Amino acid sequence: MRLLSARLIISLIIGVTLVSLCSSYYEVLVQKRGLRRDVQRSDAMLGDSLARNVERDLEKNALQTLHRTVQRYANRENLAGLAVYSPEGNVIEVTAALAPLMNTPPAVASQAVRDDRDADAFQKLGTTSVHIVAVPLHGQGKVLGVLAIVHDVSYIRAQSLRIWRETFLSALAHVVLIALITLLIVRWSIEGPIARTAHWMRALRTGRAASTRIKVPDLDLFRPLAREVATFAESLTTARSAAETEARLREEGQSQWTADRLAVHVRARLQDGRLFVVSNREPYRHIRKGRSWEVTVPPSGLVTALEPVLCACDGTWVAHGNGDADLETVDQHDRLRVPPEDPRYTLRRVWLTKEEEQGYYYGFANEGLWPLCHIAHTRPIFRADDWSHYQAVNRKFADALLEEMEGTERPVVLVQDYHFALVPRMIKQKRPDARVAIFWHIPWPNPEAFSICPWQRELVDGLLGADLIGFHVQSHCNNFLQTADRIVESRIDWEHFSIQRHDHVTSVRPFPISVDFTELPSEPADQPAFVERSGLLKTLGVEAAFLGVGVDRLDYTKGILERFLAIERFLEKYPKYQGQFSFVQIGAPSRTHIKRYHDLQAEVEAEAERINWRYQKDDWKPIVLLNRQHSHKEIQPYYRAADLCLVTSLHDGMNLVAKEFIAARHDERGVLVLSIFTGAARELRDALQVNPYDIDQTAEAIRAALEMEPEEKQARMQRMRRSLREHNVYFWAGSLVAELCELRLDTRELGNEASRRGASVGVR
Ligand code: G6P
Repeated sequence: MRLLSARLIISLIIGVTLVSLCSSYYEVLVQKRGLRRDVQRSDAMLGDSLARNVERDLEKNALQTLHRTVQRYANRENLAGLAVYSPEGNVIEVTAALAPLMNTPPAVASQAVRDDRDADAFQKLGTTSVHIVAVPLHGQGKVLGVLAIVHDVSYIRAQSLRIWRETFLSALAHVVLIALITLLIVRWSIEGPIARTAHWMRALRTGRAASTRIKVPDLDLFRPLAREVATFAESLTTARSAAETEARLREEGQSQWTADRLAVHVRARLQDGRLFVVSNREPYRHIRKGRSWEVTVPPSGLVTALEPVLCACDGTWVAHGNGDADLETVDQHDRLRVPPEDPRYTLRRVWLTKEEEQGYYYGFANEGLWPLCHIAHTRPIFRADDWSHYQAVNRKFADALLEEMEGTERPVVLVQDYHFALVPRMIKQKRPDARVAIFWHIPWPNPEAFSICPWQRELVDGLLGADLIGFHVQSHCNNFLQTADRIVESRIDWEHFSIQRHDHVTSVRPFPISVDFTELPSEPADQPAFVERSGLLKTLGVEAAFLGVGVDRLDYTKGILERFLAIERFLEKYPKYQGQFSFVQIGAPSRTHIKRYHDLQAEVEAEAERINWRYQKDDWKPIVLLNRQHSHKEIQPYYRAADLCLVTSLHDGMNLVAKEFIAARHDERGVLVLSIFTGAARELRDALQVNPYDIDQTAEAIRAALEMEPEEKQARMQRMRRSLREHNVYFWAGSLVAELCELRLDTRELGNEASRRGASVGVR
């Protein structure tokens, strides 16, 4: 760095000096020229007017008068003197100071006589610089002589020297100033940030950054580099922590699933095959923000689970592009590389018209299939128009997927959820060599309930195009097998949980989805739960000793109203908790274009208000409703600070809130009250399980949770955390991909495909 500074400063000194010299030289030249021009002009004018007088005196031969005329100019400022010569070169008159130097005419005077016109020259006279102008004198029709006016111009040289001196001094000042500023810039903006970066990178290398959470330094001038370095640092930290986790797990003899292990696992299973994911929600959404846009990630477990898989094999995720800046951020094939900060896989966006979105998403998927599969007493609505849109949109996604799969041998496809029941069959018809799985994230009802759907046969047939259908729990698998048995021509194999329809076999398996369970908190709580609790309540303007939390999309399947009734009953039955227990309900508005959802929002607000009005006192109220989307990070403090978490879904495929609450409780405290109608209830046996329709039972569970002995709370939490540690979201994705890759594809189908495509397709 010293050498760099010295080089920089020396170069600057040489550069600035050279530039100053050149510009001074030019300035001196211009000045000199200007001054000389002035002298020439004034001498010429003087010569002109003086010559008339001298000519008159010469003509009259009035030598006395001539002497006086000439001597008058002897002491004029800057005028060295005058001389008058005969045409033959004899002195007729000369001022005293010039007499010793000009007893013969200067060359310029002889030239003026010879040419009979004015001449001038700058020259040396003795040691003095002078300007001489020579004017021929006429009379009686001939040249009578020549007048020489001599101007002392030594002041021009003095002036030039002055300019040189001033320029030198100002250049010196510039050089000193620039060198000083450069030194400061180097010190503050280059040396400083480099030193900070070096310190930070050293901390990263030695592993201190991860533990002490050293912040990314301000890289100042190198800001454009900061992002790259930060991403690099993040990868390094992640890799280090993954390696540490791996080593620790090996040491403890455990085999916990991590994102890295999932990536390795998937690469091994896929060999050189590629992975494709289809879902309605996209993993990255571009939202306009002023003139630019920002990227948002939906707070969904799906992105956490599937991203490492896609990154591991540079896969493709096909999804509905519904961000208002989505169109601007794709290429001409509607693709973009993601994650934005470290692109490792492709997102292919599919565009839908308003009518398609209305019919397929709001209509058939969310007003038809959603209430059909959730037994929550909201009547499904089936419209023929919605069904047509559902079919058309499924076709659109299948076409996009087929386009993406072109040229890929042995593609592996993971279709997500009830939005795409028809896609598996559509894909398989065109690409029997593809391994296709669909994961149904919501419950599957019994055959009687499902049979009210007018297009039940088409839906089940579409799903049976898949090689593997996944549900969260075994009972949903059983319901599906029974439904298929009842409505389509098929052979059910109850021993292997598979369905044969025509030549194709579909396996049906449970894969309970989960959360990213980490041993260490992503953001350490700097205070115990009770301190964090009072801080949170203070920001909400509430005073309470106990805190409960609920986190849901505002959906009628979540049992939010039943939950509120249970809280009311609890306060009624146990009045000592009035003024003591507050419940924070985080409710993200969802699907609000649908009337049932729109109405629910108003119902939830009204119910909270009614209960609050009944019990509210001073700074305390029983229910705090936070009706907006909260990020995963924003929810964490509530999970950490709560005494209990209420999950009272009337019916739920899994319910990840229950698992997120447990994952957040690194302190092994807090109690989970969980509906028996969630998929999670099968795994989380240590939760206080309730029937959400039984208001009294839930109220009792709230009391039991608040009054539970700390040891029991801890023992229950420890057991649930142990189960989640093992069955995390990476385990879910890993099992799903492994199962799909291990299935034998039907050889007859592949044979047909091979002859159709004129190529042989390998069977694994
Ligand atoms: C359920 C579904 C998901 C869906 C999510 C949010 O969990 O299984 O597929 O993405 O709800 O609903 P939304 O309609 O907003 O995507």
